[in-house]
Amino acid sequence: MKKITIAIDGYSSTGKSTIAKRLAKALNYIYVDTGAMYRAVALFALDHGFVDGEDNIPELIAHLPEMELKFVPNPDSGKSDMYLNGQNVEEEIRTMRVSGQVSKVAAIGEVRTKLVEMQQQMGQDKGIVMDGRDIGTVVFPDAELKLFMTASPEIRATRRYKELLDKGEQVTFEEVLKNVQERDRIDSTRSISPLQKAKDAIEFDNSDMGLEEQFERIYDFSQRVIAKQ
Ligand code: DC
Repeated sequence: MKKITIAIDGYSSTGKSTIAKRLAKALNYIYVDTGAMYRAVALFALDHGFVDGEDNIPELIAHLPEMELKFVPNPDSGKSDMYLNGQNVEEEIRTMRVSGQVSKVAAIGEVRTKLVEMQQQMGQDKGIVMDGRDIGTVVFPDAELKLFMTASPEIRATRRYKELLDKGEQVTFEEVLKNVQERDRIDSTRSISPLQKAKDAIEFDNSDMGLEEQFERIYDFSQRVIAKQ
C-alpha cells in the first residue's frame, strides 16, 4: 500500500495534535507537531532575551544557526518529546510564558524558512501526519489528504484552560480566551504564510463532536484516500 502525506491545519486548540497523533499511530505513520518547533524557537528567544519587553528580532535571526531542534521518542509516553540544544523542553514549551510569545516568533520569515525546510525533510518519504498552520498550503501543498480544523474560540479556550489547570498552571479562563483570540488574530493576519484553509482541504468543525467520532470520521477519510493510491 502506498503511503500518503496527511496535512492537518487549523486554529489553536482545535485538538489537531490529539487527532493527528492518533491517526499516525493507527496508520503506523510518523507524527510531527510543527507547533512544538515554533514553540521551541520562542523558548530559545525568551531564554536569550530576544523577545518579551525589548524585542531584538535581528539578534534572534542571527542566532538561529545555533539552535538545534530534535524530536526524541519517549518510551514512557510512547510519544516524541521536543529537544532544544540537547534539553528536553516538552513541558516548558506548553507554558503560558511561551504561548504569549510564540505567534510573534512564528511571524518571522527567517524562522519559517528554517522550520519549513526541516519539516519538508522529515516528510520526504511520505507516511507522515503533520499538524500546524501552513502544512497544506506551504509545507506540503501536494499532500494527498488535507484537513482544516475549526471550533469556536470559547470551546477551544475551555479545552486549553482545562489542560493548563491539569498541569497546575495558575491561569484564569479569561486569560486563556484572550490568548487564543490573540493568537488567531496574529496567525491569520501575518504577512508570511498566514493561517488559511487550503483550497482542497476538508473543513472540519469539531465544536460539538467528541474525540471518538472525530477520529472515526478522519480515519475513514484517510482510508478512502489511501485506497485510491
Ligand atoms: O499548534 P500550537 O498552538 O502549538 O502552535 C504554536 C504557535 O506556532 C501558534 O501561535 C502558531 C504557530 N505555528 C505556525 O505559525 N505554523 C505552524 N506550522 C505551526 C504553528
